[in-house]
Amino acid sequence: MAIEVIATGRAIPPRLLTNDELAKDVDTNDEWIRSHTGIGARHVAASEVAASDLAAEAARNALAMMIGVDADSGAAADAAIAEAALSLDVIIVATATPDHLVIPSTACLVQNKLGAWRASAMDISAGCTGFIYGLETAAGLLSVRGGNRRRVLLIGAETLTRFVDWSDRSTCVLFGDGAGAVIVEKTDAPQEGAGKRGLLRSILRADGAGSVHLVCRRGAGRSPFMPGEVVEKSPYIEMNGQAVYNFAVKVITETIPEIAAMEGISLDDVARIIPHQANARIIQAATKRLKLPEDKFFLNIQNYANTSAASIPIALDELNRGGKLSKGDILITMGFGGGLTYGANLLVW
Ligand code: ACO
Repeated sequence: MAIEVIATGRAIPPRLLTNDELAKDVDTNDEWIRSHTGIGARHVAASEVAASDLAAEAARNALAMMIGVDADSGAAADAAIAEAALSLDVIIVATATPDHLVIPSTACLVQNKLGAWRASAMDISAGCTGFIYGLETAAGLLSVRGGNRRRVLLIGAETLTRFVDWSDRSTCVLFGDGAGAVIVEKTDAPQEGAGKRGLLRSILRADGAGSVHLVCRRGAGRSPFMPGEVVEKSPYIEMNGQAVYNFAVKVITETIPEIAAMEGISLDDVARIIPHQANARIIQAATKRLKLPEDKFFLNIQNYANTSAASIPIALDELNRGGKLSKGDILITMGFGGGLTYGANLLVW
């Protein structure tokens, strides 16, 4: 039995906000943003679009790939995708920017949008590491004896541009919106030995002592909005950029060799490392310390900025649809972010 990703999808809001356009309203410029982060543009969800909308669109695209139809080809495709949604046993949405603060989960909203009536549904809150935690959770749910589950839809979906302080140039330039989805299935492929496939191992870690470095303080139980209160800013993410930068470089440099060694794999044999897209400089620093070729790490931050839990599944879908993944490729995904959390998955495609 193996736990394999059998299909991928993504949803990117059409509205593109370039650095130059952003610099008309914020005291920044394209040169600073590119040289300090690698970001060239980000996508911004329309005001009526929330995480569950992007998540459902990414999911439909993944379901369409699974059954071999074009998601936008009309009523027959819609019906086939709706039918395929009925094969889902679990829906997991990793998000730091859910539709609603307390309840319901964004995953329940996605279940309803897809009509995936057989599926259980829950969210994972692990910041930018949400997809990494989600993949291991999916594998666990599929592996449990007597669980009778075969297929999990795992989505990372974010509307981060709605949770930034647009007057703080050190954070507002960093984030973008989007969603990526994968369908994870329990298959008959071997999980060990020659020809082994699928998810082989994950590392999941947290450092709650660092929670102060990335925090959205307002609106929930610790600091609820009070009746009559005049709110000057909607809830926004505060970040200690230097602390997060140092944390990220350290955990990437430690975790990637660790997960490869646990599986007895040399990093030379890894086809691609797919890191969370937070800052190209973080990845370049880690690449140097690990003495790896730069192209071993996949980077698309220039087009999307940081989409938190969505960044790794968006990258996976780009690679997959672009024909850049071959059966048997060894991949490592690496996440890090709010919590603080971090972790990695090692899988054979
Ligand atoms: N445009 C122009 N100037 C800016 C901007 C901007 N957008 N932002 C900051 N500056 C200025 C600062 O005001 C400062 O000016 P000063 O020297 O006159 O005071 C100067 O640039 C340097 O500021 P620093 O904050 O020291 O810049 P740094 O080189 O550290 O880069 C950054 C900041 C990009 C945020 C970096 O610290 C970083 O990438 N940290 C990690 C962030 C991260 O990964 N976050 C996401 C992870 S978690 C998650 O994904 C949700």
